[in-house]
Amino acid sequence: MRTIIFATGNEGKMKEIREILDGSGWQVLSQREAGIDCEVEENGTSFEENALLKAEGIRNWCLENGIPNFPELNLRELAVLADDSGLEVDALGGEPGIYSARYLGHDTSYREKNAHIMERLDGLPKQSRTARFVCVIAAAFFDGHSHLARGAVEGYIGWEERGENGFGYDPIFYLFENDRSTAELSPEEKNAVSHRGKALRRMRELLEEEYNK
Ligand code: IMP
Repeated sequence: MRTIIFATGNEGKMKEIREILDGSGWQVLSQREAGIDCEVEENGTSFEENALLKAEGIRNWCLENGIPNFPELNLRELAVLADDSGLEVDALGGEPGIYSARYLGHDTSYREKNAHIMERLDGLPKQSRTARFVCVIAAAFFDGHSHLARGAVEGYIGWEERGENGFGYDPIFYLFENDRSTAELSPEEKNAVSHRGKALRRMRELLEEEYNK
């Protein structure tokens, strides 16, 4: 059975990836389920570089150590997937970008991060507040080749936090279509338009091509 190991401990992400890859012919394991005790430093300069660093770092760890909880898996039928994502605000030169999780420091709350972004955009009209969520997913295969898939969702930074769903920057990121923040969308509505959903659907196509090779 072809198997994907997804480099995350985040259950929300695992649920979304399982839903989108269901029926693709690939079974999905989280890094934790596979028993892989490896943390890769994300010191790249783009979403692509960071996603690839993570996927290849874990692939290389498995080449040395095997798959601890599934020693029977054949490495030639495995792919390691990793994602990197963030918010780009045009008026801030693309900040926070790849530093989204670390913006103003890891320990600063999203209430503070969001307030700070809105403060920096003070006085700007809607058309100057454009922003996007970006997600890049990398797949590293055991023969050394890899694939990248990028997804983005365009929107703007609002004037106040709104909505209780989602996480991170969702309460200040608004869609042009309906002027709702992505924290006001249900999980299903958000998956249908989100950067991660788009990148995952693109990756599914690439994996299906690999499967049929
Ligand atoms: P990671 O690549 O999953 O670690 O995500 C990086 C950071 O980007 C997160 O910690 C959030 O700050 C931000 N981010 C990525 N995707 C979203 C989203 O869908 N909503 C809100 N914030 C997001």
